[in-house]
Amino acid sequence: MPRGYFITFEGLDGSGKTTQLRRLAATLTEQGHTVVSLRQPGGTALGDRLRSVLLDSRSEAALGTISPIAELTLMFADRAQAIAEIIAPALAAGHIVLCDRFTDSSEAYQGGGRQLGSERILAMHAAVCDDLQPDLTLLLLPPLDASLHRARRRNHRSIQSQGTDENRFERESDEFYSRIYAKYQEIAAREPQRVVSIEGNDSIEEIQRYIHRIVAERIPPAPSAPATSMLEA
Ligand code: ADP
Ligand code: TYD
Repeated sequence: MPRGYFITFEGLDGSGKTTQLRRLAATLTEQGHTVVSLRQPGGTALGDRLRSVLLDSRSEAALGTISPIAELTLMFADRAQAIAEIIAPALAAGHIVLCDRFTDSSEAYQGGGRQLGSERILAMHAAVCDDLQPDLTLLLLPPLDASLHRARRRNHRSIQSQGTDENRFERESDEFYSRIYAKYQEIAAREPQRVVSIEGNDSIEEIQRYIHRIVAERIPPAPSAPATSMLEA
């Protein structure tokens, strides 16, 4: 059985990853593929616990300041568990895995934002994740202000409607986010075969069409699907 196909979505908070991942998952499923979707941090029982420690802005009142290295290590603990429980078995079974964030997020946020540098993150990825690489990374890079505005509006709504608070990162400064943005651009320039960067202020539908075109060029039709049922733009 050939390995399945591993697609990651990357970008700043509010860049539209979750929206696009859901739309792509729905289309691929309609086309007859088996799709496994997950997000990082989270996705496993351990990961969901780690997610609440890492993202809840009330964590630090309970746990004290989380050091950048501790934060990085928890992100990798989450990732190691997700690979073991979900990603590796799904790829081995020939499925398509769609992951909302992966190691590029650690490189951009902890390497760039927290200024730990890329080298340490790449070394950790090799050691902890057996250097598992996505086949394709869709990097959503709308202008910085647009992303942050959308993320803050969305989080405000979810605090009000669900009582959840995942604001620890969104409280960071604009300089922190500028460093993340620059690190994402650096990753895209370094790995042009894997990373497709989608910049600008296009609508959800325009970006969806573009993503579906890119994916259709790379994924063969599902084994049971007629030849004409490849993704259409
Ligand atoms: P992310 O997962 O990257 O944080 P989301 O997909 O949750 O981003 O999107 C954040 C908010 O921005 C949502 O309210 C979503 O409807 C909106 N949004 C997503 N993509 C676009 C877009 N291209 N233009 C305008 N609004 C968008
Ligand atoms: P999430 O809700 O998944 O992102 P978004 O707001 O884009 O929908 O939140 C994940 C947060 O965790 C986000 O601020 C980025 C951060 N993060 C890291 O700092 N390092 C990592 O390795 C990962 C996976 C996420």
